[in-house]
Amino acid sequence: MLPVLRCPVCAGALHRDGDALRCHPGHGFDLGRGGYVNLRTGRVRRVAGDTAAMVAARESFLGAGHYQPLTSRLAELAAASPAAGRSGPVVLEIGAGTGHHLAGVLAALPAGAAGIAVDVSKYALRRAARAHPRIGAVAYDAAGPWPVADGGVGVLLDVFAPRNPAEMRRVLRPDGLLIVVTPEPGHLAELRGPLGLVGMQPDKGDRLDERIADRFAPATVERLDIPLVLSPGEAVDLALMGPTGHHRTAEDLRHRADAAWPGRHAAVTARLAVRCYRPRG
Ligand SMILES: C[S@@+](CC[C@H](N)C(=O)[O-])C[C@H]1O[C@@H](n2cnc3c(N)ncnc32)[C@H](O)[C@@H]1O
Repeated sequence: MLPVLRCPVCAGALHRDGDALRCHPGHGFDLGRGGYVNLRTGRVRRVAGDTAAMVAARESFLGAGHYQPLTSRLAELAAASPAAGRSGPVVLEIGAGTGHHLAGVLAALPAGAAGIAVDVSKYALRRAARAHPRIGAVAYDAAGPWPVADGGVGVLLDVFAPRNPAEMRRVLRPDGLLIVVTPEPGHLAELRGPLGLVGMQPDKGDRLDERIADRFAPATVERLDIPLVLSPGEAVDLALMGPTGHHRTAEDLRHRADAAWPGRHAAVTARLAVRCYRPRG
């Protein structure tokens, strides 16, 4: 992943220098004990990245395999993309969280493939850095300029994460693939009332297409429904790892879950859309 990263100050190439990444003019960025590099500089915008509790809930929920159908589908799509046939393809996930999906995608690609997990949450980045030996975890804000080379990325993943169409287009190779996963109407509907879920408005597909239309051409769209049978604790993790985690505590959610499903499991359906796009021009 190193050849693809750029100095956020001068846009120069970065090389490894002991426990830091450095460009030729000498700007340096430490690889902290968390195993990730912080490429945020200057006046840093405050962004509400996922909290420790949200990231722990995500790790536990994804680690239990509940969203494996999604990870597997992402891996299949990446493996079938033109990038998979090239040497050393780079897969970048923006808002990568724990790096769970990115690790699954890398496992399906040739051994030379490298992953870049981007996030602003230090709790997420620490986990993403350990998710796969070929993942490099990098802190930067998706909304600003990306410290990534033009056309350096073969597959770009955006799974329930922020988007920046101009930077997404700039970093993606002309034959690259953008994969975007969004919630569909009815996503986790069974949890909404009992746990008081907030946010997570379904992202209308045509609205998403419109917002990125001048830079990306829609290629395929698939609906993916994942039926889940969850213990009250697993339902709490699922709520906590999403936008609700910014508004409700684990304790509050636990009380609600125990009241809604005392001693039994809840049947829940994750309703997702997986969209692939090709860069234009
Ligand atoms: C809903 S989580 C999805 C995580 C991962 N893609 C997954 O599906 O497991 C969204 C992630 O985006 C990160 N995030 C939020 N705002 C961001 C920003 N401006 N730049 C980079 N990451 C951001 C959060 O910290 C969080 O880890």
